[in-house]
Amino acid sequence: MPGMLLGDIFPNFEADSTFGRMKLHDYLGDSWGVLFSHPRDFTPVCTTELGRAAQLSPEFSKRNVKLIGLSVDRLEEHHSWSKDIMAYNNMEPGSEFPFPIIADDRRELVETLGMLDPEEKDQSGMPLSARCVFVIGPDKKLKLSILYPATTGRNFDEILRVIDSLQLTAHNRVATPVDWRPGNSVMVPPSIPETEASTLFPAGVYTKDLPSGKKYLRYTPQPSAHQQ
Ligand code: BEZ
Repeated sequence: MPGMLLGDIFPNFEADSTFGRMKLHDYLGDSWGVLFSHPRDFTPVCTTELGRAAQLSPEFSKRNVKLIGLSVDRLEEHHSWSKDIMAYNNMEPGSEFPFPIIADDRRELVETLGMLDPEEKDQSGMPLSARCVFVIGPDKKLKLSILYPATTGRNFDEILRVIDSLQLTAHNRVATPVDWRPGNSVMVPPSIPETEASTLFPAGVYTKDLPSGKKYLRYTPQPSAHQQ
């Protein structure tokens, strides 16, 4: 992803979407955002992905996250394809697709945001957008990015899981271990000295004994309230 680093302010671009013309920062307001691209409308893997994202959209809303899709297809194609996605999901034919999809048919965003997959090309030889995920915080900073090739579909449950971790760690001085799920114990980061850990985590800190004798594998119950 050339040029964009974690912590950078996400570009406040303007674009046409299925919800109308949008300016990114205004559209997000105080919400978190997930901007994700797909290679092409009317393709099988993309249909399953946007179908799953649509099914999970109430879960994203519960977490104050706005989803935004994007591809190099035109607006009319997005509108028409949305009906296929809803039929794939067995959703009511007349219901509205739950999140906007940006039409980047002039490829301005996919190029500037580094969302292209050079391995996958359309019939005229132009590279398609990869399966890119950007998580943007309420401060409009980039919190996480994931880049998949066109041939590998994403797991939107994982995207929800990382949002749970990002939101927890935005307000608490903890880190989440492998395969963490909300409610599981979390880890005390190495930057917190032992003397501070016991006051910072009154629920207790468990340190695993290791052959090195180093006391870095420290667990504490997940904090429930926002700790600053
Ligand atoms: C798909 O969504 O099925 C797809 C799109 C582009 C390349 C490969 C697969």
